[in-house]
Amino acid sequence: MARVAIIGAGYVGLTTAACLAHLGHEVRCSDAEPERVEKLSKGQVPIVEDGLPELVRDGLRSGRLSFGASNVWAAEGAGFVFLCVPTPQGPSGRADMSYIEDAASEIGPHLLPESIVVNKSTVPVGSTKVVERSLGRSDVDVVSNPEFLREGSAVHDFLHPDRIVIGAEDESVAIKVAGLFLRTSAPLVVTDPASAETIKYASNAFLATKVSFVNAIAALCEAVGADVRQVVLGMGSDHRIGAEFLRPGPGWGGSCFPKDTMALVRIAEDAGYDFSLLKGVIDLNEEQYQRVVSKAERLAGGSLSGRVVALWGLTFKARTDDLRASPSLEVGSRLAAKGAKVQAYDPTVNGPLPGLDVRADPYAACEGASVLVVGTEWDEFRWLDFEKVAGLMERPAVVDARNLLEPAALRRLGFSYEGIGLA
Ligand code: NAD
Ligand code: UGA
Repeated sequence: MARVAIIGAGYVGLTTAACLAHLGHEVRCSDAEPERVEKLSKGQVPIVEDGLPELVRDGLRSGRLSFGASNVWAAEGAGFVFLCVPTPQGPSGRADMSYIEDAASEIGPHLLPESIVVNKSTVPVGSTKVVERSLGRSDVDVVSNPEFLREGSAVHDFLHPDRIVIGAEDESVAIKVAGLFLRTSAPLVVTDPASAETIKYASNAFLATKVSFVNAIAALCEAVGADVRQVVLGMGSDHRIGAEFLRPGPGWGGSCFPKDTMALVRIAEDAGYDFSLLKGVIDLNEEQYQRVVSKAERLAGGSLSGRVVALWGLTFKARTDDLRASPSLEVGSRLAAKGAKVQAYDPTVNGPLPGLDVRADPYAACEGASVLVVGTEWDEFRWLDFEKVAGLMERPAVVDARNLLEPAALRRLGFSYEGIGLA
């Protein structure tokens, strides 16, 4: 078992740290935010992620997992150092590499000779070289090991991945890194760094394309009187297509698809290739937010000015507390820009949010509303008392942007109902 350092204790870093400790390694995890480190050291997990608090507490109890605010403390004496810091979208749409470069130049002088630095953050092609330069160490290897976990099922995805991708110049170094994950029994793809970095962006871009494609098919279904649920059932049964990532919705969002699709457009552009397909996918996604807003406007009688709109669900998808680039928030701010007063509810959100009146329960969000918009597919929304909801609203109308609710039942209660792509 190895001594591993994890730099960055966010969705990816914390999951990696807790899971590697669970697999038997001795893990030190550092983060730039002292408050986060203090909480984690007491076993308090600052994000909503199934199974993560249990793994963190197990790791702390066993002594295999520890947290600190110093990257140098984490990296000193480690055989493997994982970089799990943010790579947000920079002003030009290119990935901002400054967090990676800062962390690498900080730890460089303190690394053991022959240790291995593993780039787990999502980074543009050629970043392995950038990390090498920032480390300033010729005796340390740098490999790419992109992460494919989804928020909400991060622990499961990490421990049961479809594949583990390792990009290294030297295959023997890749095999050493693969050894860390031996107990997951996942299929291994060992390749060069540029291919590994491209696999990550290509995977996210393809998944985003699939969702945009089904959103476009949903729009077509509305135009021709077809039912997207039936269409998806028929399409998804073809194993060459597959049933996953074919759920129509308000558009894709989150901390990765938007920044990664844009970064890939820029990577292509910088290399002289015009990725027009992916640009179209991004444009379609913008249109999808607007389609939800237009539906709300229609159901509110043609204008949102001065109207109350209830918005259920604010996170970018269910089973996470992550609000980054949330389609629901985007829809909320577009509704507000049209003059609506937006009363919102989300099971994971307590505090105030700019431009939104965040209410403590879903019923309070519906008081006086002309239309209710379901923006996130929280399961609990299905089981609410819709008779009560209808009684609270100015008029019972719902835009179900996740096709979560039962249209016939709602119509029986007098609701006007619009889903996405339904006949
Ligand atoms: P995050 O924002 O949740 O966490 C990053 C953490 O790094 C934060 O806690 C921050 O305080 C810390 N940090 C920043 N600079 C630091 C430094 N110099 N030293 C130590 N800590 C530092 O980010 P995330 O969602 O975990 O994403 C990290 C990377 O992984 C990104 O490149 C992202 O694209 C990629 N990724 C994310 C996911 C996901 O589902 N969130 C999945 C796969 C890949
Ligand atoms: C995504 C990828 O699925 C992960 O493999 C990847 O590691 C991660 O990005 C990353 O690089 O950070 P995540 O952002 O957690 O994971 O969320 P997804 O489950 O992929 O959903 C992304 C967006 O697409 C959400 O807004 C979701 O609601 C939407 N979506 C997804 C749909 O609208 N329909 C679908 O059928 C699937």
